[in-house]
Amino acid sequence: MLHDPNRIYIFDTTLRDGEQVPGCQLTTSEKIEIALRLETLGVDVLEAGFPVSSPGDFNSVVELSKAIKQPIICALTRANKKDIDVAVDSLKYAKRPRIHTGIGSSDMHIKYKFNSTREDILQRGVDAVKYAKKFVEDIEFYAEDAGRADNAFLAQMVEAVIAAGATVVNIPDTNGYCLPDQYGAKIKYLMDHVPNIDKAIISVHCHNDLGLATANTIAGIQNGARQAECTINGIGERAGNTSLEEVAMILKTHQALNKHTQINSKHFYELSGMVSRMMRMPVQPNKAIVGKNAFAHSSGIHQDGVLKHRENYEIINPEDVGIDQSEIILTARSGRHALKHHLERLGYVSEKINLDDVYERFLAIADSKKEIKDDDLLSLMSDGTERN
Ligand code: KIV
Ligand code: ZN
Repeated sequence: MLHDPNRIYIFDTTLRDGEQVPGCQLTTSEKIEIALRLETLGVDVLEAGFPVSSPGDFNSVVELSKAIKQPIICALTRANKKDIDVAVDSLKYAKRPRIHTGIGSSDMHIKYKFNSTREDILQRGVDAVKYAKKFVEDIEFYAEDAGRADNAFLAQMVEAVIAAGATVVNIPDTNGYCLPDQYGAKIKYLMDHVPNIDKAIISVHCHNDLGLATANTIAGIQNGARQAECTINGIGERAGNTSLEEVAMILKTHQALNKHTQINSKHFYELSGMVSRMMRMPVQPNKAIVGKNAFAHSSGIHQDGVLKHRENYEIINPEDVGIDQSEIILTARSGRHALKHHLERLGYVSEKINLDDVYERFLAIADSKKEIKDDDLLSLMSDGTERN
């Protein structure tokens, strides 16, 4: 990868961490369909699966490796030879293969998951990187549960795996535990205390258990991380992963951060719908960027403002994320400006509309309905007001 300090690499794990969600399993051909769209979107790395977990997952990594040309294809392993051997085999057709291996880094995981010691775990991590490096040049190491790990030990581990050959080191907040300033400070601590940190890219991988995954990812980027691990729609185990569309649009919207990706955001809306349908996982209406209501204005004050100038209430142009235009929803909270807008859209001549009178009748029906649709407006206007 070229060294542009302000370029943020987007690592998509929709097909690995995202697909771990119960009920969201995809067939290999569905995965290929999504992967091709992710390639068009412009992701830098595509985590294709955890090949040792099942023959189906192994096969998906093989087929994705054949189908995808540009992004790096990544396969997940635990820190053991068998996982790594299987991952290497699954990546044999990848144009740009990457092994993503790792082990727990918090005392919680070291003691209660591995029943081990810091020294032993560190050695197992180093050994896994060295072993994987025999087969594949690009090795990413994950320090699982780094969000709860002791920073000094984490720095030791990061230094050791870089010395062993890791090209990317992932600092996951596996349990979505950190506050943004804590997570940002953790990344800064590593940048300041790992002597060879410049020899690898630091990656952020945040979970959303406290609703902070995106905020933590941005805090990590502000403190030196250069790769962000995300999923479409923020899909993932429990409360999910960092949402790719949120990270990309934050970096695009806040130019002052001076960070850029190669994501073409115009594909977001369509890709979000595709992932939602294939994974049978609805997108919440108020989801940032891609939710049904993300560009829908329903209160009179906002509608009036947005009709006067879009940017009064829209910090993102809907076209930038693949939505034709924002919506003005008519409800009992709407005002005259929104009503007039819709009547004109339906062809009524504004000078001929008795707006005060129509608005009064509109409110009478709006109070008994959640939303007023075109049919309602047409019957409201069946008094003979002229249309174009
Ligand atoms: O959340 C996590 O720690 C992970 C690792 C396996 C990278 O998904
Ligand atoms: Zn994860």
